[in-house]
Amino acid sequence: MPKIKIIGVGSYLPKKVVSNFDLEKVIETSDDWIVKRTGIYNRHIALKDENTSDLAVNAIKFAIKDAKIEKDEIEAIICATSTPDLTFPSTACIIQQKLDIKKPIIAFDLQAACSGFIYALSVMNDVMKSKKIKKAIVVGAEKMSSIVDWSDRSTCVLFGDGAGAFVLQNTNEDDDSFIIDADINADGNFNNILYTSGGVSNENNKELKNFEGDFVKRTSGAIKMNGQAVFKHAVEKMSSSINNIVKRNKYTLDDISLIVPHQANYRILHLVSEKLGIPYEKFMLTINEHANTSSASIPLAFDVALKTNKIKKGDLIVLEAIGAGLTWGSVLIRL
Ligand code: ACO
Repeated sequence: MPKIKIIGVGSYLPKKVVSNFDLEKVIETSDDWIVKRTGIYNRHIALKDENTSDLAVNAIKFAIKDAKIEKDEIEAIICATSTPDLTFPSTACIIQQKLDIKKPIIAFDLQAACSGFIYALSVMNDVMKSKKIKKAIVVGAEKMSSIVDWSDRSTCVLFGDGAGAFVLQNTNEDDDSFIIDADINADGNFNNILYTSGGVSNENNKELKNFEGDFVKRTSGAIKMNGQAVFKHAVEKMSSSINNIVKRNKYTLDDISLIVPHQANYRILHLVSEKLGIPYEKFMLTINEHANTSSASIPLAFDVALKTNKIKKGDLIVLEAIGAGLTWGSVLIRL
């Protein structure tokens, strides 16, 4: 049986850092409110002409370097994003061109909102096995600043831009470092608690305030959220997904070295930690500096975990997320 392992990790954050104090100057909010309710201090915001594919390509280049492979060895790219450069072609195809990969490969986008990276890893794990692909990229990349309404304080303070990428390799039976299992779920009956106010196929092309303060027409609409409903689902579904994936693979929660969760709110993670009886220190946290970067948040946090020696070879790690859809799930990895 083939197995799929992570051989390289990279991430990229736009240079521009926007603090809570910066936001205090443009909307009615406070550093105190944002920190207490969410754990966010700063977020990175992409430039006007910096697109999701640019963030992704930067992250992928670091991941390729980390994996010590050549770009031409890549046979497949899945880009998890809710903020594609264009309606079509896919951001993954634009990434292929920007990486200057000339041969035909498999490239497509996957949209599962904040659970996008979990879904993409799960799908790529299967695609690599069934298509006998040797090396592939999964990237989560988001320009969330382009889909928030910067006059809505209840949402705009929560998000940031960024990208993170894994290089995956097909390996053999004897390798004990691999993706063990993936648990992916959706319940579309809750699509009305977290959504955008417009989209490509509807006519709700509102004028919305962008980060620069101009009112612009946006087909994407802007994020709308029932924060408290999302909060409750997040605690319940993240807890159950971790529990399921660990138990069904005959491990115990004590066996887990680190949980790398989607970074939505530190209070959600506190409650998941209490519910499962897993020490809070075992949750990797980057929300303070990255805010919520949707599908990019897990690979961004994973990269920080590696660079700060929070994880090492042989560790059992759970990646987990919840997002609009609702979608949620986990991936269990032996590093
Ligand atoms: N600054 C100051 N005050 C604010 C702000 C702000 N940025 N935003 C809202 N408020 C005010 C509200 O107007 C309200 O005032 P009122 O009591 O006078 O009416 C008060 O703060 C409380 O608002 P709530 O919405 O009840 O605040 P809550 O404690 O629920 O926190 C939050 C809001 C942080 C969004 C929380 O519900 C949450 O984290 N939910 C989880 C959802 C989430 O993380 N979503 C991210 C995307 S989804 C995902 O990634 C899974």
